[in-house]
Amino acid sequence: MKTKAWGGRFQKALDPRVEKFNASLPFDHALFKHDIQGSIAHTHMLARQKLISFDEAELICAGLEQIQSELQQGLHVMDTACEDIHMLIEHLLVQKIGVIGKKLHTGRSRNDQVTLDLKLYCRENVTIIQNLLAALLQTLKDLSIQHATHIMPGYTHLQEAQPIFLGQYFSAYQAMFQRDATRIQDWFKRMNLSPLGAGALAGSSLPLDRIWVAQTLGFDNIVENALDAVSDRDYVIELCSFASILMVHLSRLSEDLIIWSTQEFNFVALDDAFATGSSLMPQKKNPDVLELVRGKSGRIFGHLMAILTVMKALPLAYNKDMQEDKEIVFDTIKTLIACLEIMPLFLNSLQFNTKQMENRVDKSFMNATNILEKLVLKGMAFRDAHHTVGQWVQMANTQNKTLQEIMQEYE
Ligand code: ARG
Repeated sequence: MKTKAWGGRFQKALDPRVEKFNASLPFDHALFKHDIQGSIAHTHMLARQKLISFDEAELICAGLEQIQSELQQGLHVMDTACEDIHMLIEHLLVQKIGVIGKKLHTGRSRNDQVTLDLKLYCRENVTIIQNLLAALLQTLKDLSIQHATHIMPGYTHLQEAQPIFLGQYFSAYQAMFQRDATRIQDWFKRMNLSPLGAGALAGSSLPLDRIWVAQTLGFDNIVENALDAVSDRDYVIELCSFASILMVHLSRLSEDLIIWSTQEFNFVALDDAFATGSSLMPQKKNPDVLELVRGKSGRIFGHLMAILTVMKALPLAYNKDMQEDKEIVFDTIKTLIACLEIMPLFLNSLQFNTKQMENRVDKSFMNATNILEKLVLKGMAFRDAHHTVGQWVQMANTQNKTLQEIMQEYE
């Protein structure tokens, strides 16, 4: 059995059932690249600060790089005796380069290390999300231009309200997703501060250069307060929060398109390559992609609720509860990326039935507000005009005429 990094003061080996329960390695191995990235910067800093020699630093970094490529190739077993990815990498390093490897953790705790790794992971993946969001925005912009003059019914309470342009509809979603993009930019500014050097909770008596490490890793600055640095998971809460709002938008867009694709609406035809059939009913064509995007929003909201609940009563500073943050982050990012990847492809595959939309507008009383406003311009009081047009709608309805026809009778 491997000796624990903290084995010095323990007289018994850890119960294997606790070992299994305690371990985060089965999921946090996803952080291996970021852990090594942080460790390499930390090692260079230790050498610059004369806490280790440059030769030792070189040996450690070369070892870490080899371990990274071995992990990439899946050459190591994820042995939970190592508890987490941080311990596994350190263990592999000592195995590889010997006692010098034991110097890597100088001036560092897993508490500052783990939040550094998670920030690096979030930063890398949120960049992917930003690029996908930009592609979705471009698709919506293209659609809004393509359909700028195609008239369609607009709804409130899902009842026909006033005519709008289909292009305007896509612009509305463009505006919503644009706000999401700015939320991500705001998140980035608050998140992009390095916690490394905060140690377990109280910094270090060693002459570490926190700023140099922060700059080397592309952070804007350091988290000043060491207690805050290791306790803070606001960036996870905010990530889940902007992801949730983004999913609200994707879900509403999906819902609109699901309704439009029904036989009753017939505003949009689903492409065969983007729809699914029924195993029983031969005529069916189902909008599964949209339903899944709508459904996955529930999953992301769940993660937001989970991280809020994990954090809400934690005394400062680090508590093991915070190990729960990882799967929340991984799944939120994975799910969001999957939805953002499919949505522009799906939108581009749709055939919009603009003729049908126009017909609906012609056959409805959606021009009632326009007519009312014409009466107002002629000097009638708004309330009277409202009442008058309301009566015309009633007549048109019973006499099976258009509002225009009824109005002409009164002019
Ligand atoms: N696996 C731990 C986590 O994910 C790493 C930090 C452990 N720190 C500690 N003091 N036990 O949160």
